[in-house]
Amino acid sequence: MADESRKWVLMVTAQTPTNIAVIKYWGKRDEKLILPVNDSISVTLDPAHLCTTTTVSVSPTFDQDRMWLNGEEISISGGRFQSCLREIRSRATDVDDKEKGIKITKKDWENLHVHISSYNNFPTAAGLASSAAGFACLVFALGKLMNVKEDYSQLSAIARQGSGSACRSLYGGFVKWIMGKDEKGTDSLAVQVADEKHWDELVIVIAVVSSRQKETSSTTGMRDTVETSLLLQHRAKEIVPKRILKMEEAIKNRDFASFAQLTCTDSNQFHADLCFRIISLVEKWNKAEGTPQVAYTFDAGPNAVLIARNRKTAALLVQKLLFCFPPNSDADLNSFVLGDKSILKDAGVESPEDIETLPPPPEIKDPSQKFRGDVSYFICTRPGRGPVVLSDESHLLNPETGLPK
Ligand code: DP6
Repeated sequence: MADESRKWVLMVTAQTPTNIAVIKYWGKRDEKLILPVNDSISVTLDPAHLCTTTTVSVSPTFDQDRMWLNGEEISISGGRFQSCLREIRSRATDVDDKEKGIKITKKDWENLHVHISSYNNFPTAAGLASSAAGFACLVFALGKLMNVKEDYSQLSAIARQGSGSACRSLYGGFVKWIMGKDEKGTDSLAVQVADEKHWDELVIVIAVVSSRQKETSSTTGMRDTVETSLLLQHRAKEIVPKRILKMEEAIKNRDFASFAQLTCTDSNQFHADLCFRIISLVEKWNKAEGTPQVAYTFDAGPNAVLIARNRKTAALLVQKLLFCFPPNSDADLNSFVLGDKSILKDAGVESPEDIETLPPPPEIKDPSQKFRGDVSYFICTRPGRGPVVLSDESHLLNPETGLPK
């Protein structure tokens, strides 16, 4: 090992996107290894608007593995963290950093401890797949630090053991999680269906209903469903395999009509009133146009994810949404619409007053009925890239001490 008397700290910072499933992962065949009952497909969201940044560091002076999330120290003694750490450590190889004069051998890694600091640029557990971006970033960053030679699909199988949907955050664009057959889960991993440039016309608008913690976590929600539902088995065996094939075709051909139809049909977890109002608006609009303009999808929480076929449609969508779900009167537009704000300009909305003069969408029965304040904020985004390593300036840990800055 490098000279232990020297108090060196080696670190890597990475950024990893979140993803939203368009064919859902719902149901596990193995809870510990996190093996699903069906394949799933997701769109990776642009990390400029939604991502996790994680710094991982190693030093002979660290006496235990420690982690901070959004600045607060958290316990990593849980099985999911431990699985990820164990799996990635077992694949560590020699590191020879000539510039810093640090040498670590494969064997050294067994006894070295790591410090991890992670930061989400969006509310944790708002139902926006923060665990997906988080575990993907943890595994990706540790892989870089420990000079792990495995390819991204192999890394995805490790991230999967942190949170199922995390395996899909190892790639940009459109990603398939292959459920696999192996009991040990070696073949349950993610592959890229198409990169983020393949279909870059799509605009994604997320309506965040509440940044409170999700009422039922997807883990318990899924467990309940597996135990109670024969329908779920039918879904996994008969329905999803066909949908996956069709969805891959739709993505490859940029066939929005099929993409929208499959996405909306597969999204069946709604709890809130707001979901029904959004679904009804989108369905009426799509019907009136004769061909889908927008697809909707919901995860475990009530947040709606809307995918518009192009920017023009997205501008119309934003107008309709702002009409129906305006902000509370004291909200400023800058904190009500986040992400790619240029969409607002396309929608002709540059101040809160502009929202009040928007024309009522023809899809709405009673234009006097508005749901002010029901949406906390909107995030406008697009399909985005996969994980990247960031420069030294982005480190979240102090390079001298390895403690949060
Ligand atoms: C509804 O990956 O959060 O978002 O594997 O138990 O950590 P665990 O669950 P998680 O489940 C996400 C389920 C979903 C659908 C999806 O992303 O495919």
